[in-house]
Amino acid sequence: MASFNLLLLPGDGIGPEVMTEVKKVADFLGQAGLARFETETDLVGGAAFDAHGKAISEDAMKRALAADAVLFGAVGGPKWAKVPYEHRPEAGLLRLRKDLQLFANLRPAVCYPALADSSSLKREIIEGLDIMIVRELTGGVYFGEPKEIVTLENGEKRAVDTQVYTTHEIERIARVAFDLAKVRRNKVTSSEKHNVMRSGVLWKEVVSKIGASEYPDVELDHHLADACGMQLVRWPKQYDVIVCDNLFGDMLSDIAAMLTGSLGMLPSASLGAPDEKTGQRKALYEPVHGSAPDIAGQGLANPIAMIGSFGMCLRYSFGLVQAADLVERAIADVLASGTRTRDIADKGGNAVGTKEMGDAIVGALKRLA
Ligand code: IPM
Ligand code: MN
Repeated sequence: MASFNLLLLPGDGIGPEVMTEVKKVADFLGQAGLARFETETDLVGGAAFDAHGKAISEDAMKRALAADAVLFGAVGGPKWAKVPYEHRPEAGLLRLRKDLQLFANLRPAVCYPALADSSSLKREIIEGLDIMIVRELTGGVYFGEPKEIVTLENGEKRAVDTQVYTTHEIERIARVAFDLAKVRRNKVTSSEKHNVMRSGVLWKEVVSKIGASEYPDVELDHHLADACGMQLVRWPKQYDVIVCDNLFGDMLSDIAAMLTGSLGMLPSASLGAPDEKTGQRKALYEPVHGSAPDIAGQGLANPIAMIGSFGMCLRYSFGLVQAADLVERAIADVLASGTRTRDIADKGGNAVGTKEMGDAIVGALKRLA
């Protein structure tokens, strides 16, 4: 039986609660003989700051670099609002993305039939939705230098963030998007602001060139990022794969999340380049939702995005396609049976907690396996 090393970084807020449910799913797949998972757990975010004075320890970084994949919960919360900027909880996640060189962030937004009424949009707009946002994750304004607040001679302050992209950074994320489109509905929409940003001009030029020279059979169009946000809520089913930079991808994926009914539904995969020798990619899997401090510790959080992220890990890191399909079917079955956490329950409808949702998914796995 194949064996894989997983580093679990539950983090803060609801992170530990949803991670507990993933462990149940991994244990079940082990018992069912589908694969063995060796797990280690470490701290990240505010939890790591409290223990080590920084958002991720060097030891945890080493483990992350050595693991076959990292599962990440969530970071941040009001408790750490005043810690120095470089040690804020989010810095742990950004360091992982940067040091593992996870440049490709895949954020699928799928509307399960059972949840078509949970979205704030009308059923006909989102029913059957299946889109993939491919977000560049290690460049752009998140990491560009200079990034600073300086005090000017007149005592006023000036803040700078730098949006910067090079050709090869755009080329490699474009290829990820085109490759995905080829096994989906063969359509890529590239989103930027070439009407106001130089980086948008280069983005559009490079994506067009990769499309024409390497993927002539994939349909490519370009939507300005603001218009793309508008189209996502007007008629999202026009999209298949959307490729965009780090910041626009952050925004567009939160919008896409709400199309699926709740931020608690959206998984994500962050992938590096395949290793030249082994073909293995460094990878981190995390739900798109944050640490939700308002409901943390109460057992109310929806674990589906976290479990779905583990499903993506099975598919993209371990090649366990059958197990990944199984996890996705189990989630769909549980939703179809009417089991709901609070975020996706009808008004006044019954809602279960985090643990019950996790148990229901393991129960469905048992029936399906
Ligand atoms: C996300 C989050 C992060 C981001 C934060 C926590 C740094 O919002 O993964 O979308 O902005 O990338
Ligand atoms: Mn975000």
